[in-house]
Amino acid sequence: MRIAAPIQIGPLDADAQQAVRALAAAAESHDGVAPLSEQPLLNLGTDAEWITHVVAHTKAGSTIGYVQVDRSGDTASAELVIHPEHRRQGHGRVLLRTAERDATLPSRSGEPSQHGKHLRVWAHGDLEPARAFARTAGLRPVRELCFLARPLSAADAPEPPAAPAGYRLRTFRPGADDDGWLRVNARAFSAHPEQGRMTLDDLRARQSEQWFDPEGFFLLEPEDAAGTDGGDPAAFLWTKTEPDQPDGARDGEIYVLGVHPEHQGTGLGRLMTDVGLAHLARTGATRAVLYVEGDNAPALATYERAGFTRAAVHVQYSRP
Ligand SMILES: CC(C)(COP(=O)(O)OP(=O)(O)OC[C@H]1O[C@@H](n2cnc3c(N)ncnc32)[C@H](O)[C@@H]1OP(=O)(O)O)[C@@H](O)C(=O)NCCC(=O)NCCS
Repeated sequence: MRIAAPIQIGPLDADAQQAVRALAAAAESHDGVAPLSEQPLLNLGTDAEWITHVVAHTKAGSTIGYVQVDRSGDTASAELVIHPEHRRQGHGRVLLRTAERDATLPSRSGEPSQHGKHLRVWAHGDLEPARAFARTAGLRPVRELCFLARPLSAADAPEPPAAPAGYRLRTFRPGADDDGWLRVNARAFSAHPEQGRMTLDDLRARQSEQWFDPEGFFLLEPEDAAGTDGGDPAAFLWTKTEPDQPDGARDGEIYVLGVHPEHQGTGLGRLMTDVGLAHLARTGATRAVLYVEGDNAPALATYERAGFTRAAVHVQYSRP
């Protein structure tokens, strides 16, 4: 008979957060892919109505499993990881069931709440154990996020491409550009479940990360300010370079590329991609990487034309 590990639901203190980071690092070195993405890691210290942390631990208190449920969007999203030495003992199943209950049960108080949402679970890298686990649990793939990569060399580091006639290219000024950027981001990503919902708090959280560099965050502005909401950028390209990369790795990420809907279809996406690639090459990156939705054909075509190929895929599973 299998005995379920004790689980704990609630906010994480600093030690518990550290234990979850160590668990994620152990899984990453075993699986070759990080089980928790950026937003759940940023949320580890968050204690709010829309978020639930569930930790599984041994009787001695070691953290062996973690699931985070984020109910801030239209669907509830979960990321789940079990320590490599404690897999195939039913812990994943217990955490998944707990996460599904948390997402879908109406709140007991009867107050309008963040609960009652359908759960989607991310499988980063879509590894075979995750596929088998999802299949057994009756989950099906509902969304694909592609990880694309392209080698970079000194030859990719010319002067940044010039802005087309009628536009001005400059770098982001934290504070002064926050509101204008949030507006163009919301318009450019109105159909995107996470990116389009970014708030000022989300933007500030990223600005206080060690990797944030306004010199790698470019805005393209219309010179006459016509066509956008009062002179907001027509397009933007934000890059990200993690400071602590494994020995020999020098990845630079095209973190977000957005074009205002009124300026789409005019080649600005391609131009801003070149701006980002030239910047990353100048910083010494040897590989450019990015994430794009598997069903975003225009973006995939833009990146494929710029030399990117598919390096990995992340899949979101849900109950049919
Ligand atoms: C996927 C993951 C969470 C599974 O956790 P787990 O605790 O090992 O899963 P469980 O023991 O509860 O497995 C439940 C069932 O899923 C299936 N399963 C799980 N892992 C499997 C594997 N490696 N191969 C085949 N079937 C597997 C089995 O049917 C299993 O039941 P059984 O052991 O009685 O045959 C774990 O491998 C993990 O942390 N992977 C990295 C993170 C990740 O991919 N998360 C996304 C999950 S969708």
